[in-house]
Amino acid sequence: MENFKQLCYDNKVILAPMVRINTLPMRLLALDYGADIVYTEELIDHRLIKCSRHVNDTLQSIDFIDKSNATVVFRTCSREKLHVVLQIGTSDPERAAKAAQVVEQDVAGIDINMGCPKDFSLKGGMGAALLSCPDKACTILSAVVSAVSIPVTCKIRVLPDINDTIELCKKLATTGIAAIAVHGRTVKERPNHPNRNHFIKAISEALDIPVIAKLLLIRYTNVLCLSRYVLTNNNVCFSGGSKEIETFEDITKFKNITGCSSVMIARTAEKNCSIFKRDGKLELGTIIRDYLHHAVDYDNVAPNTKYCIQNMLRNIQETEQGRHFLESTSLQQIWFV
Ligand code: FNR
Repeated sequence: MENFKQLCYDNKVILAPMVRINTLPMRLLALDYGADIVYTEELIDHRLIKCSRHVNDTLQSIDFIDKSNATVVFRTCSREKLHVVLQIGTSDPERAAKAAQVVEQDVAGIDINMGCPKDFSLKGGMGAALLSCPDKACTILSAVVSAVSIPVTCKIRVLPDINDTIELCKKLATTGIAAIAVHGRTVKERPNHPNRNHFIKAISEALDIPVIAKLLLIRYTNVLCLSRYVLTNNNVCFSGGSKEIETFEDITKFKNITGCSSVMIARTAEKNCSIFKRDGKLELGTIIRDYLHHAVDYDNVAPNTKYCIQNMLRNIQETEQGRHFLESTSLQQIWFV
C-alpha cells in the first residue's frame, strides 16, 4: 500500500511520456525542477519481458537488461522510485501483465499507452489502435490491475465525438485504473491542431459520481481497495497544452479551463524542462549543464544524451558551439563542448 499513498494523481504536474526523451536523466531533471510524477518513454511489452533485473552497484541504479543483446532497456534509481510511471506499449493482456510484473518493484505506477498514432503501433494493435477496441483495452487494463499491486493508468486521445469519448473513459474506469491521462487531440490530429480543451472539460465533469458509483458496485468485495479505484475528475490528467503552456502560471490557467486536477507536459518540457519550476524558468545553459550531470552520473548512452540536448538547443545548433556539439560522439566530448 505504500506506493498508493505516494502516487496520488490529485493536483499534480507531470512529465508526459516521450519516446527517447524520457530516459533517466530527463526524468531526474524534471523531478529536480519540481515535477511530481515522471513518465518513462513507451517501452514495448515484448522488450520488457525479455529483460532481467540487475542491481548496478557502480551507478547505484537498477538496470533492466535485454539478455539477447546486452542493452539496457530501462534504467532507474531509488531517487525516482516513488514518482516514476513506466509506460507500456501493448496489444495483449497476458504480455502486458508480464511486462508490468518485470518492473513492478522498482516503479510507482504502470501506464498503458492508448494514444500512439504511429504506424508501427497501429499495425501492431497497440497505442491508439486500442481506442477502437474498447473491450480489448479493458481486458488489458484489468489484467495489469490484477497482476500488480501498484497503480495502473492509461493515456488516451480523444475520439472525434465528445460523448463517445466520455463513454470510453467511463468504460476504461471500470477496470480499476487509478487515473486517465487524456490528450485532447484525435488520432488523426497533429500537434499543430488546437487541443480540444472543451472535450477534456466535459470528461472531467462526467467522471464524477456516476463513475464512483459504478466502481463501488464492481469492487465491493475488496473494501480496502476502494479508495484506489475511485476515478473522479481528480484523477484525470490533462495533456496536449504545450503550445499554450509557456510559464508555470499557464498550468494553473489550464487546470481552470479544463477542470482537470493534474496537468501533463510534453513538448514544452522537452525544450525547457525548467517549466516545472514554480519560481520561473532557467537559462538553457543551466538546464543543459544540469541534464549532463545526470547523464554522466548514470552513464546515459551518448546518442540518447545528444538527441535530448539537440531537442533543447534547436536553432542554436547553427552557432559555432552548436556545430562543435554536433560533432561530438561521446559523453566526454559532449561535456567539454
Ligand atoms: C510524445 N507523446 C507520447 N505519448 C505517449 O503516450 N507515449 C510516448 O512514448 C510518447 N512519445 C512522445 C515523444 C515526443 C517527442 C513527443 C513530442 C510526444 C505524446 C505526449 O506525451 C503528449 O501527449 C503530446 O505531446 C501532447 O502534449 P504537449 O506536447 O502539448 O504537452
